Amino acid sequence: MLDKKRPHLVALTGAGMSAESGLQTFRDADGLWEGYNVYDVATPEAWQKNPQLVQEFYNARRKAVLEANPNQGHILLRELEHDFDVDIITQNIDNLHERAGSNKVLHLHGEITFARSSVDPDLLYKIDGWELKMGQKCKLGSQLRPHVVWFGESVPMIEPAARLSSDADIYVVIGTSLQVYPAAGLLNYVPKDVPVFLIDPKPISITRKGVVHIQEKAAEGVRILKEQLKTFL
Ligand code: OAD
Repeated sequence: MLDKKRPHLVALTGAGMSAESGLQTFRDADGLWEGYNVYDVATPEAWQKNPQLVQEFYNARRKAVLEANPNQGHILLRELEHDFDVDIITQNIDNLHERAGSNKVLHLHGEITFARSSVDPDLLYKIDGWELKMGQKCKLGSQLRPHVVWFGESVPMIEPAARLSSDADIYVVIGTSLQVYPAAGLLNYVPKDVPVFLIDPKPISITRKGVVHIQEKAAEGVRILKEQLKTFL
């Protein structure tokens, strides 16, 4: 008997995906950027001007990520792999999708648990523990920086993410305000006849017609999504 091809489900996730794990979003009231000027901590200029402050900011993020656990939303998304060929495109720098067991996770904005050479972007090192210190260097002798995309930097993973988006049979957007480009533009690559689901407790402005908005937090939203997806099997 021939294997039935599993529908290709692509999920674009943002900070709201990890909110129920206790990690702060960016733009909600009490969000991360509320307490910081992004230009002081998340730009190449900030790194030039005050690398110590930038390291401290990301060290605190890394500590929070290591202390957090995947929530039910991450777990249910992994369970969808039973019936669907799931690709996750995440803007999150945490590793909660991987720790929930998801097999295909593309990180658009980098990964907080890795350090990167500041002269060769391909030289990556897994960070042991939460702290990356000034004075820790790559094999070429340059200071290690967090492996994250800063404002004003290019997003090298956007092309593979666009290819995945254009190949989707079902597209799901979870917990992102869709205010940061190029990530927010990925929806434009999703073919017009592909059903799009949005999981977010707040209204989100999307120009595309026919998007099914499940107005819930991620854990409950993915549970409802799982029910609704039964019609695709
Ligand atoms: P935002 O903080 O902009 O948006 C978070 C979204 O999650 C909002 O729409 C919230 O309504 C929603 N939300 C809050 N709690 C939720 C929950 N429990 N379940 C589901 N949704 C929830 O975060 P992002 O859109 O991810 O980039 O931000 C995109 C990028 O902006 C980030 O990757 C980061 C930031 O600047 C960089 O640092 C490069």
